[in-house]
Formats: sequence, structure tokens, C-alpha cells
Amino acid sequence: MPTYIVLLGPPGAGKGTQAEILAKKTDLAHVSSGDLFRENLKNQTDLGKLAQSYMHKGELVPDDVTINMIRERISRADCEAGAILDGFPRTPAQADALEIMLKGFKGEVNLVPYITAAEETLVERTSGRWTCRAHGHIYHEKFNPPKQSGICDVDGSEVYQRDDDKVETVTKRIRVYLDQTMPLVAYYRKAGKLAEIDGTQAVEQVTKELLSALKK
Ligand code: AP5
Repeated sequence: MPTYIVLLGPPGAGKGTQAEILAKKTDLAHVSSGDLFRENLKNQTDLGKLAQSYMHKGELVPDDVTINMIRERISRADCEAGAILDGFPRTPAQADALEIMLKGFKGEVNLVPYITAAEETLVERTSGRWTCRAHGHIYHEKFNPPKQSGICDVDGSEVYQRDDDKVETVTKRIRVYLDQTMPLVAYYRKAGKLAEIDGTQAVEQVTKELLSALKK
């Protein structure tokens, strides 16, 4: 049976950072809804342009568009063994759609690590974040700088600051998270799938706790 892990948590909690590490350690595909939207924007697709009109305001892209994009992504061959879902689902409607989708792949959500951090930490992390232009590798100017300033360690591409990482937009994203995504914490807790993890710890410690939750 395939394995599906949903990483839940506010913007800047460390979902993308941990998903990248976990994907290497588990051999599962890393599926990030935010990266998929950014990739579409880079390629100037209609989906990318539509998504950008919501992303730059810190709002969620409509459910139907997001659900169709994820359904297509997890149908690909590299998700046959399952996936680490980073940033999806983000609303109860997306969680319901995911459940139905995964039944089609004879799977289900196996674990939902919920990575937490206080608002001031989230703002400090997002405002100092640098993202690799080619493949979305994540850095932080203070906590995890690239070896060579401005250049991704992994693929040598330029690193840039995300347009939606301005403090006003991050504050809006946190509000949107509290209103629209927080209900999923209760949803997955009730289903016995939630594993709460303190995201303010060092990256290595967060990974250790994630791996231990996975073994259970
Ligand atoms: P998305 O790209 O998914 O952004 P997000 O969920 O807001 O999360 P972030 O990427 O900001 O943070 P993260 O938790 O991944 O943290 P990271 O590891 O980078 O979504 C962007 C937008 O797309 C949304 O606003 C929405 O418009 C749209 N969208 C996406 N999915 C959608 C959906 N399902 N439905 C509708 N719309 C959707 O870490 C942050 C920084 O902290 C980095 O610099 C990192 O180096 C550093 N860091 C990480 N961990 C640590 C640590 N332990 N200690 C110190 N520093 C750390």
C-alpha cells in the first residue's frame, strides 16, 4: 500500500525544509502545492497566472483548481509508492477530496505531522528565507545560508526572496491559515493521525522527531 504523509503547519513553520529531507530519507515523492503554483507561474501557464492573483495577496487559491492540480500530480509514476504532501490539504474541502483521491490509489493519509511555531518565529523565518529559482531548495539568511551567497548549494541556480514573504503578506497568510487551515488540526486529531512537533527546535531535531513519529 502506498504511504501518504501530510505536513501541516503555518507558513514558515518548516514544512518545505522537512519535506525535502524526508523525501530523501524515505524515497517518497515531495509534492508541494506552493512549488507547483510557482512552477506554473515561472512557465506563465494560465494556472500560474490565476494562482498568482491569490498568492500575492496571501489568499488561498480556489479549492477546485488546487484539488485538480494535486490529483494530476499524485497520479504520476513517481508517486506510486506514495508522497509527502507539503501545503495540501489546506481546507476541509481539500481534505475530503484528498481522502476520495487516495482511495482511488488504494491508500489513505497515514500520518499528519503538525509542525508548530509562534507568530514572531514565522515572520522572522519567512522574511529571511531565500528560495532557489530552479528547484525551490530552501535557505535562510541567518539560520541556513547557502555556502556561496546568492547561489543554491544543490544546483548552482540563483536564490531569490519570494514575493509573498513581505511582512504584511506573511501576516495575512498567518490569518488565512488560522481561519481556513486550523480546522484540519482537529479533523486529523480526531482521526488519530496527528503528531504534534515543536518546529522551533533545530532542523535536525525536528527531522528526528518526524522520523520517530513515522516509525510508530
Ligand atoms: P506555500 O508555498 O505552501 O507556503 P506556506 O504553506 O505558507 O509555507 P511556507 O513555504 O511559507 O513555509 P514552510 O512551512 O514550508 O517553511 P520553510 O521550510 O520554507 O504556499 C504559498 C501560497 O500558495 C499560499 O499562500 C497560497 O496562496 C497558495 N497555496 C499553496 N498551497 C495551497 C493550497 N493547498 N490551497 C490553496 N492555496 C494554496 O521554512 C521557512 C524558513 O525558515 C526558511 O528560510 C528555512 O530555511 C527556515 N527554517 C526552517 N526550519 C527551521 C528551523 N527548524 N530552524 C531555523 N530555521 C528554519
